[in-house]
Amino acid sequence: MSHDHDHVRALVWRDDALELLDQRLLPKETCYRRLTTAAEVAEAIRCMVVRGAPAIGIAAAYGVVLAVRAGYTGKRDRWQIVLQEDLDRLAASRPTAVNLFWALRRMKRVIAEIADDPLERLLGEARAIHEEDIAANQRMGVLGASLLGERCAVLTHCNTGSLATGGYGTALGVIRAGYATGMIERVYADETRPWLQGARLTAWELTQDRIPVTLLADGAAAALMRQGEVRWVIVGADRIAANGDVANKIGTYSLAVTARHHGVKFMVVAPTSTVDLATPEGAAIPIEQRAADELLNFNGYPVAATGAEVWNPSFDVTPAELVDVLVTERGVILKPDSTKIADMMDTANSGSPMQAPIAL
Ligand code: MRU
Repeated sequence: MSHDHDHVRALVWRDDALELLDQRLLPKETCYRRLTTAAEVAEAIRCMVVRGAPAIGIAAAYGVVLAVRAGYTGKRDRWQIVLQEDLDRLAASRPTAVNLFWALRRMKRVIAEIADDPLERLLGEARAIHEEDIAANQRMGVLGASLLGERCAVLTHCNTGSLATGGYGTALGVIRAGYATGMIERVYADETRPWLQGARLTAWELTQDRIPVTLLADGAAAALMRQGEVRWVIVGADRIAANGDVANKIGTYSLAVTARHHGVKFMVVAPTSTVDLATPEGAAIPIEQRAADELLNFNGYPVAATGAEVWNPSFDVTPAELVDVLVTERGVILKPDSTKIADMMDTANSGSPMQAPIAL
């Protein structure tokens, strides 16, 4: 692999199938699952074999390829009908990360243009979505690392790395780049209750790539900031509304509030495929509620009092006013707002598929 400190891949297209690193089993087991149908891909997204906004979008794009492989008989009408069921299935797999709907729209646009055998074109498009994501992450890594200002420690939340993307990562891409250039001396990672993306995935990914990582319970973040240990909080996003509000893993909002209180800078790193101009503000972003079991049990072992009810939102919304910097592959926005985001989405690459509306 061309970049140092980047050796993990969550998605691999091989021999007409999608291979996914099963993230439910990490860090104990490194096991790739081979998927050959769109229904299997939708289920893998739903149950978090693959997770992270860009990775979900890429998986869905390959899922469309698998759907067409199964349904294409040479008669256009027939495969289009079968395909719609699979598109609906993929779209219903998880609600918050907008990259899923963005990738499906992009695949649908290609389908609408094809008159004959669609397979090559669709596989080419899925591969392009995958490769463009890695390139965007590497670009954001350079841009974000250049903002750090001085050698420092940073805090991150959830997993935003190669496991959550096509490769390299969003926030973790900035951290990779910052570590490679010596600007980041230490990475603190929230364990990220309840699914433990920080403890199980980020800590694993960073140790695989020989980047030292210090794990902390989510509730310890404020004390860490009070001690003056970190200069930046760097996180990814699942959906960024037109006004700059950011939906990301539950606990992100709390970090943003705490960072502002302690004078710690708050950086959001996300490709433009995560920006949803059709959603005006954070309050309109659908927030996934997950099963009570994630809080009531741990590895199948009951840890909560019987009879307790559970509130388990998977994401929260950080208002734009708490975001100091938004980094996308198109550039850096300081103090994002509707105007700056509209300008960014309107400028570079106009006419590219990235400009597409994202409602299915
Ligand atoms: O529930 P998950 O693990 O899919 O949530 C992932 C996150 O919240 C990430 O921070 C986000 O997708 C950005 S990843 C590049």
